[in-house]
Amino acid sequence: MSLTDIDSYNCSNRRNLSRSIELFGRGQRVITGGNARLAVFQRPHPIYFAKGRGVHLVDVDGNRYLDFLNNFTTLIHGHGCRPLLDRLHDQLELGVSFSGPTELEVEFAELLCDRVPYFDQIRFMNSGTEAVMYTIKAARALTGRPKIAKLEGGFHGSYDPVEVSLDSAPANWGSQSAPSGTPYSTGMSESVVADTVVLPCNELRASREILEASKDRLAAVLIDLLPQRAGLVPIDPCYLAFLREFTARHGIVLISDEVMSFRLSYRGGITRFGLEADLCAFAKILGGGLPIGAVGGPSRFMLPFDSTNGKPLVPQAGTFSANPMSMAGGIATMQCLSEQHFQRFDELGEYARSSLTEMFRQQRLPYSVTGMGSMFRIHLRPEAPENYREAYATPEQQKRMGMLIWALQERGVIVSPTCQLCLSTPMSTDHIDEMVTSVREAAQMLEAA
Ligand SMILES: Cc1ncc(COP(=O)(O)O)c(C=O)c1O
Repeated sequence: MSLTDIDSYNCSNRRNLSRSIELFGRGQRVITGGNARLAVFQRPHPIYFAKGRGVHLVDVDGNRYLDFLNNFTTLIHGHGCRPLLDRLHDQLELGVSFSGPTELEVEFAELLCDRVPYFDQIRFMNSGTEAVMYTIKAARALTGRPKIAKLEGGFHGSYDPVEVSLDSAPANWGSQSAPSGTPYSTGMSESVVADTVVLPCNELRASREILEASKDRLAAVLIDLLPQRAGLVPIDPCYLAFLREFTARHGIVLISDEVMSFRLSYRGGITRFGLEADLCAFAKILGGGLPIGAVGGPSRFMLPFDSTNGKPLVPQAGTFSANPMSMAGGIATMQCLSEQHFQRFDELGEYARSSLTEMFRQQRLPYSVTGMGSMFRIHLRPEAPENYREAYATPEQQKRMGMLIWALQERGVIVSPTCQLCLSTPMSTDHIDEMVTSVREAAQMLEAA
């Protein structure tokens, strides 16, 4: 199958998925759960992909899809961006990893510190999970305090403290003004839950009370400016100003998780929101599709990682940290990403959100849309949610969402398991129109069922 033939693949609604079914069967024998990544598992089986080019994906059965997920927001240039491929090919010839630093990591750190003027320094690692974990370790080292605070429903990767209250449900979430800390994975230590303070996002008075009660034990407040699981609703500027002021006054480190929100502007989410965070965690678009994570901030907050005078307060290693392939991929991706791309993302994102909203109104579908910039999310409720609890889907609603997502796949559109979508630079209004038509057909089918 040649990449240039990608336009000729099957776009019909009833797709042959026999090879995906076969691979899932084989996978179930040797991979626990059938496939090795929870986020892409779906019932009755995942779709196995073979190739991507531009805005399209092709699965192992030869079906073509419009990719509105881009490996969970990572592939900002879609698939097969030429300068990225060329740079990676060149680097492949030179070497994929060495037991020493390379010029590439210096070049990439310079590029990022230039782009986000608020940063003095960066450290690289391999995933968003690791990046968030290291910001927390640094905050604890800087303050000598154990606790962290996070927003209810906030997703920050797969590290115990940040998984607290990730999927709180009505049965255990407590009152709106004082959310309970709830464990995520079975067996999560009680001490982890006890050391994690949960804040109701955008509720200033309630959050102040909660923070006041634990301020002397708090190392960090961890936020996401556009929390996806909490509805993809932007953080309120007054709430943000309060968190900045409160944390600065009490010597608490304010961490912005930019793993996804770095996509919000040329200089990241913090610049768009005018936030001077103490530490930021990055990943996703930074590596152009290769594994990456990074922590950045002003020098004094980066000090815990400094090993020049002996063992650092926070030893950060990692066999593949700053590996040449991820560095090369990141440099090429960022060099191809201009301020104009972000203006276009804002325009196209607005076009997508308003087209969907108008279509729902015209078709009398009880759905709504949230989001910002290049990201948006469809909710199976008539009013757009304003927080995690409103965005929370009951098991029955999750089942309906799964049916909508499957119907979208059958119509050739890939979205996330929470029906989040994102744009890539090769996308145009035509692709958005195509997606809106597919959402309309899939939603009408769901409502009829
Ligand atoms: C806001 C946020 N933080 C952290 C992570 C974890 O990143 P990774 O999957 O690279 O570990 C994610 C992943 O989706 C994320 O969206």
